This record gives sequence, structure tokens and C-alpha cells, in this order.
Amino acid sequence: MMNQQTKRKNVSVLFVCLGNICRSPTSEGVFRRTAARELKDMDVYIDSAGTANYHVGQGPDRRAIKAAKRRGVDISRLRARRVSREDYDVFDYIIAMDRQNLSDLLYWAPPDYEGQICLFLDYASHYRETEVPDPYYLGGGAFDRVLDMVEDASQGLVEDIRNRFVDL
Ligand code: 4NP
Repeated sequence: MMNQQTKRKNVSVLFVCLGNICRSPTSEGVFRRTAARELKDMDVYIDSAGTANYHVGQGPDRRAIKAAKRRGVDISRLRARRVSREDYDVFDYIIAMDRQNLSDLLYWAPPDYEGQICLFLDYASHYRETEVPDPYYLGGGAFDRVLDMVEDASQGLVEDIRNRFVDL
């Protein structure tokens, strides 16, 4: 666990879903904007990855790109990659979209990992759900709902980062 002595001005955040083409790139794009606006005084490194390798090298799902674009977030240039062992050396937060992602991330984690492995919706304040539903097979409004959820959770994540990493 982080403590007072490890508080610093750099923080790194990895968003993780299954394919790295819908929920986690959407989260990366939204949180980049939130961090640029609300964590100006910090050096925030943000990335996303998938637990599966189905879509490695591909751009985000066209529906995810469109839905994000409507809210002024451009995720079109992101490319999918799989979670790697090195991610546990790099990232302070490894944030899962659903319980299956979380379970995989915990299973792969080295025993000495000291960062936060958690569900993104742990940081949301307006949702009772604990998981960001996979929009891949749902389609339609599911992509907008993902955006609503990750915008809410991004705000909460900013507050958690401030609490853990910024001296009062
Ligand atoms: P994501 O969505 O995990 O939010 O990127 C999915 C993308 C692809 C598949 C499943 C979920 N797939 O089975 O190919």
C-alpha cells in the first residue's frame, strides 16, 4: 500500500478490459481529458490494455470511436495490446472494467505488487453497478452508457489520486 512517504507527483494508470477495443480505450481517452483538466500539477501517464489478445494491433471499435467523438474525445489512434508482466512494474493503478478482468489481473499480479488493482466503477458515484458492461455485443446505446459511466468514475479516480499522491 502507498503511504505518506511514497506520495509523489507522478502517477500512472492502466485501464484494462477484455479486448482493448471498446471499454478500456474509451476510459483512456476520457481519463486523459479529465487528468489534463484536473491534475495539471501532476505528471500522469495513462494507457490501456486487454486481458485477451484477439484484437492486438487493431484500433478501437468503430462504434466506440464514434460515441467518444460525439463527446469530443478522439480515441481513433489508439492500438490494442495485451496486458504484460511489465505493466505491474510500471503502473500505480491497474483498473478493470469487470469482475473477470479483475480476477485475471489479480491472478497475474506478482506477490510484491504494491499498486491498486480495482474495478473502475469503485470510483463512480452515480452507479450502483460494479461493472462497466461490455458493449461489444450490446451495441446501440451501450457505448453511450459506457461513456456516462467512465466520465463519472474518472472524476472519482482524480479524487483518489489526489488523496494518495498529492501532499496536503
Ligand atoms: P472490450 O470489448 O473488452 O470492451 O474491448 C470486447 C471486444 C471484443 C470482444 C469482446 C469484448 N471479442 O470477443 O472479440
